[in-house]
Amino acid sequence: MLIHASQPIGIFDSGIGGLTVARALKNMLPNESMIYFGDTAHLPYGDKSAAAIQAYSIKIGNILLQKNCKVILIACNAASAVACDLLKEYVGRRAKVFNVIDPVIGYIRERFARQSIGLIATKRTIQSGVYARKIKALQLGIQLKSLATPLLVPLIEERFVKEEISQEIVYDYLKKPQLGHIHALILGCTHYPVIKKQIESFYQPKIEVIDGAKLTAASLKAFLIDKQLVNPSEHAEDHFIVSDYTTDFEQATRLFFNKKVRLTQLPSWD
Ligand code: DGL
Repeated sequence: MLIHASQPIGIFDSGIGGLTVARALKNMLPNESMIYFGDTAHLPYGDKSAAAIQAYSIKIGNILLQKNCKVILIACNAASAVACDLLKEYVGRRAKVFNVIDPVIGYIRERFARQSIGLIATKRTIQSGVYARKIKALQLGIQLKSLATPLLVPLIEERFVKEEISQEIVYDYLKKPQLGHIHALILGCTHYPVIKKQIESFYQPKIEVIDGAKLTAASLKAFLIDKQLVNPSEHAEDHFIVSDYTTDFEQATRLFFNKKVRLTQLPSWD
């Protein structure tokens, strides 16, 4: 099946955290139409089984294919970790599937040979071992030090991001010996860019805190340019769909997207 430049880009996440990636994409590719799907009925994905996340991802993939998307971007580390290969196989040539992990691995490959890199993420992403496998496959002597930080997503979702107590929780995680002596830290969850400044403030001397959102947007842009799939139209239309609408989610979108967006409830899964 032929893909056309005018088709929209589909993006999905367990909820609204993936809007950090959508925002980076919009900044880099303003002419692209976006269909964002937040699976708010099933979040968080970070403590679900791989099988459950795979089933949700295939269903969402179907929705985005029905909406004629040329690209399906998995804007969630947990789903990128456990469902990307399956979704790629399922989608086949109907659309190009992207994840938020490979662009980060590409970045590390260029800059951090023989260094130690930290990773913070949800339990599912850490337990999947996907970053460890991909970094080992680079054969560059990079040591990965990982820590699951499950309290951070609910903290951010509750917009509890600038209080002293949230700073203490963040620091408490970063102080753990598992993350000792690192040269850079990967934010392995699409919620975490919201607290990037707090995380950076922990490290004296400074280390690089790697946020996959911009790297992912840049790699998608390079792909679209290479395949001549950049949308030439200046009338981009964006839609934001959720599987369970609440006004609270709608209000929280500002935190991730920098402006409030209108969320629409998906009428049904089928
Ligand atoms: N956005 C998810 C991720 O990047 C975290 C939120 C969740 O657990 O659903 O892993």
